[in-house]
Amino acid sequence: MGRIQVRRGRRGDLDRIVAIESLAFDADRLSRASLSRYLTAPSAALLVVVADGVVAGYGLIGLRRGGRRASLYSIAVDPAFGRRGLGRALLQACERRARAAGREALTLEVRVDNAAAAALYEQLGYRKFDVVEDYYEDGAAALRMVRTFGPARAMRLAHGGRRARPAPGAAGGG
Ligand SMILES: CC(C)(COP(=O)(O)OP(=O)(O)OC[C@H]1O[C@@H](n2cnc3c(N)ncnc32)[C@H](O)[C@@H]1OP(=O)(O)O)[C@@H](O)C(=O)NCCC(=O)NCCS
Repeated sequence: MGRIQVRRGRRGDLDRIVAIESLAFDADRLSRASLSRYLTAPSAALLVVVADGVVAGYGLIGLRRGGRRASLYSIAVDPAFGRRGLGRALLQACERRARAAGREALTLEVRVDNAAAAALYEQLGYRKFDVVEDYYEDGAAALRMVRTFGPARAMRLAHGGRRARPAPGAAGGG
């Protein structure tokens, strides 16, 4: 695989993002209208990963105003590009974006039977803190997981409570 790049999603990426949503998920899909809104919503950040010149996946975080945490709303990679590190690169970019917005942690929900996603999250240091029964359309339960950005918090404390800028290259990462 050639160079991969993560950047903000743009209006022109919408067709590919919608296609990836339908390839990656069998149910509980985000609609085209929702994905379109998230591309410009100030309370969210939608990032895409480009591999071999193609938009191959996307990651979406919620940044509710005044919140201390960011939420991972969705992450998906086109199965044709699976298992090549794109999901990890996207999630790490989402973490950087959350930290840049001053958030202390990233939380997420994952289906209890989604072994691939759970393995990715565990690899990047997420820990389970709750189970929500009947979370998905088909009644499946969700695990709630969180990763706290320790160094950002320490920096903020060291700077008298002001928002700390992440150090260059201080991506999430495992
Ligand atoms: C979860 C998902 C985003 C991972 O994307 P990806 O680009 O294939 O993942 P990566 O190549 O970055 O893999 C990172 C790690 O995730 C885990 N992983 C990814 N795919 C896996 C699979 N099929 N089986 C087991 N573990 C897997 C592994 O721990 C992997 O690390 P390794 O390759 O060093 O072993 C992708 O499988 C996907 O889009 N799934 C469908 C949508 C979805 O379930 N999203 C999450 C909703 S909560």
